[in-house]
Amino acid sequence: MGEFVVHGGHRLEGAVRINGAKNAALPIMAAAIMAEDPVLLHGIPRLRDVDVMTRVLQAVGAEVHWTAAHDLLIDPRSIQHYAVPLDLMQEMRASLFVTGPLLARLGQAQVFQPGGCNIGDRPIDLHVQGLHQLGAIPYEGDGILLLQCSTLQGSDIHLSYPSVGATENIMMAASRATGETRIRNAAMEPEIVDLAQFLETMGAVVRGAGTSEIRIVGQKELRGTEYTIIPDRIEAGTLALATAAAGGHVLLQNCIPDHVPGLWGRLREIGVEVREIDAENVEIIAPDRYKSASISIHTNPYPGFATDLQPQFTAFLLKVPGVHLISERVFENRLGHARELRRMGAQIVADQRVAMVYGGHSLHGAQVRALDLRAGAALVIAALSAETPTIIAGREIIERGYESLASRLQAVGADVTLT
Ligand code: UD1
Repeated sequence: MGEFVVHGGHRLEGAVRINGAKNAALPIMAAAIMAEDPVLLHGIPRLRDVDVMTRVLQAVGAEVHWTAAHDLLIDPRSIQHYAVPLDLMQEMRASLFVTGPLLARLGQAQVFQPGGCNIGDRPIDLHVQGLHQLGAIPYEGDGILLLQCSTLQGSDIHLSYPSVGATENIMMAASRATGETRIRNAAMEPEIVDLAQFLETMGAVVRGAGTSEIRIVGQKELRGTEYTIIPDRIEAGTLALATAAAGGHVLLQNCIPDHVPGLWGRLREIGVEVREIDAENVEIIAPDRYKSASISIHTNPYPGFATDLQPQFTAFLLKVPGVHLISERVFENRLGHARELRRMGAQIVADQRVAMVYGGHSLHGAQVRALDLRAGAALVIAALSAETPTIIAGREIIERGYESLASRLQAVGADVTLT
């Protein structure tokens, strides 16, 4: 495994362009296999998770290739296999996204049950229940999940929790089902809206995406199309927090300010200047020093504070004098980064769901490990303001979600190298 080596203490100055959203790209790539003709996607980030999804689509028979740096062509006309290989499921839980599209296309889908991960158990019951309500019969055994249907039939589905992935899987299958599907207590994330818009360009009728009730009128056939993915709001938030922690002044280009509702208000409250220049550009200006404050955040489904920004926000709060409270409400075990941050001198007390952060004390470098993607980004943020060099192991884990992070941070003045 490679490492990030960060020499902290440099202010960040300049502009960074935000890439397309990983969490929009993955379900949209999966949805593309429902089309009758090729689909051309623009703004797809070059990430390991995207490579895994590419291999998943190829494993079921699609032809997939890059036509430009961030443009991906998916030709689904030769789809014929319904089983996702074990190694690909093990590499990425989001491989699960192909179950809805494969059911729609072939009438069956087989995946291996994804195991738990560092941030919690992450069951898939809501995916299975939703697809079952559309007419798929699940067979489970030996860690394998096989779903089969003769046809998919629109249905009234009430999710007991607004799961992002379950909402997306059901939306995809429903867009090729007979009749209308209603998803109540649906997830409302911007990535759901992006998937809905993509399905519409393929010919599905989707209403209400971005609210808690989505209605989909399925179509017999979906057509090939061309589509541009939304910018990655988590990447934008991470770079904003990196600037706030390291100090400096950075322009985030290709960033939709409305997609990060919880973060800007919090940063302003703490003294960071956040200028929403227009619909696509946000300027982040860190103060010379932070005043004492007492900040508390609770993660929640959108439009609540994003769980995917919680570790990075925790790392940033180490700069702000005062006692702060972090409460993680989406995943049951997403505070593992507290232990790694403590190796750098951070004063944090945490159990699985709640952390108290004693901010305003200086950090020193250490040898630390990225436990998961966002926890790794949190370590990079802490390292940018540490007084001595930090070595972060598990570089590949961070690169699952951030394209060329080291070189892009370096372009705005950070000292980050790769080993
Ligand atoms: C997606 C994002 C992930 C983000 C998360 C929450 C992708 C590829 N990943 O993950 O980055 O952190 O949304 O914003 O888009 N749950 C169940 N049963 C299910 C499904 C989920 O109990 O069938 C629970 C999970 O264990 C978790 C909660 O619901 O506690 C939220 O999970 P979910 O919204 O499904 O997240 P993902 O789609 O996996």
